[in-house]
Amino acid sequence: MTTPTTVTKSNGAVLEAAGVTMRFGGLTAVRAVDLTVAPGEIVGLIGPNGAGKTTFFNCLTGLYTPTEGTVSYKGTRLSHKPHLVTQTGVARTFQNIRLFANMTVLENVLVGRHTRTKEGLWSALLRGPGFKKAERGSEARAMELLEFTGLAAKRDHLARNLPYGEQRKLEIARALASEPGLLLLDEPTAGMNPQETRATQNLVLAIRDQGTAVLVIEHDMRFIFNLCDRVAVLVQGEKLIEGTAEVVQADERVIAAYLGTPFEGAPGDEEAAEVDAAEAHATAPRSAAPQPADAAPTEPAADGTASGTSAAPGTSAPPGTNSAPGTSTAPDENAPNGDAR
Ligand SMILES: Nc1ncnc2c1ncn2[C@@H]1O[C@H](COP(=O)(O)OP(=O)(O)O)[C@@H](O)[C@H]1O
Ligand SMILES: [Mg+2]
Repeated sequence: MTTPTTVTKSNGAVLEAAGVTMRFGGLTAVRAVDLTVAPGEIVGLIGPNGAGKTTFFNCLTGLYTPTEGTVSYKGTRLSHKPHLVTQTGVARTFQNIRLFANMTVLENVLVGRHTRTKEGLWSALLRGPGFKKAERGSEARAMELLEFTGLAAKRDHLARNLPYGEQRKLEIARALASEPGLLLLDEPTAGMNPQETRATQNLVLAIRDQGTAVLVIEHDMRFIFNLCDRVAVLVQGEKLIEGTAEVVQADERVIAAYLGTPFEGAPGDEEAAEVDAAEAHATAPRSAAPQPADAAPTEPAADGTASGTSAAPGTSAPPGTNSAPGTSTAPDENAPNGDAR
């Protein structure tokens, strides 16, 4: 890759991702994805589980170096180092919450400000004298952000003791502490109740109104379609369609992608056809033999899996439902891990 901060033409966009491809060995998780976010926009990124949404975020924020493609923020090519990306003006939250579990709510936000103070992250984490001084200057702003996110009353609680929904809000407050021009939210309402989801929707609108553009991944379609100016749909790493809520909702391929119904020209169709053909060939002699109807046991499997759980990924969340497909975002799996990134 070239130098991290080459100035390119920005076309006025806050974010401009061009031809972003991410391969892991033989797997292409993200394939030639273009996406722009304009100032003042809230853009949604949806798609079935495993579509490559989080991987795409990781490419935008420097956690991964894309195999191909470029990412620019306000016309500046972004670095592949996460802390430099944050410093440039792009902040994020994580699908699997990453808070400093044993720090207080206020301290978590103060650590989020380290990119905006001359003290570094280690000084913030080790709470040296420089940080303590910077902390006093930052505290007023951190408290403003806690008011803004509705967490002010919890300022001295340990992050680990917050209910799940509040941990997600704290991640947002901490991300905002770096004063970003673009905020990336990865499933901000996963695990929230409907009331918390509604509050988060209002919070995102308020963030946008204060001048921060937002790119949000979410499975809750009501949340997405209420909130977003534009929605892009990823399926098997490729952008299937992008448009307003109306355009995306009316697109049969999107519904098919969620319901797992094949459609002509779907990404991965060719590979799927090859696999089908190979399987048909391999099973052909046996499939000629009659199969007794009672060959399979009717009771649930011993491991507790009920019949029907072998459905294609994404079938559990047709548009319009509030449930997250798959249970990979179950609260316990997302418990704060104190990950000191
Ligand atoms: N670090 C990694 N190494 C190998 N494969 C990965 C890695 N991260 C993600 N993948 C794969 O990339 C695909 C997309 O995953 P992900 O971006 O998490 O999807 P989504 O967020 O849309 O559910 C999946 O098949 C996943 O297993
Ligand atoms: Mg994800």
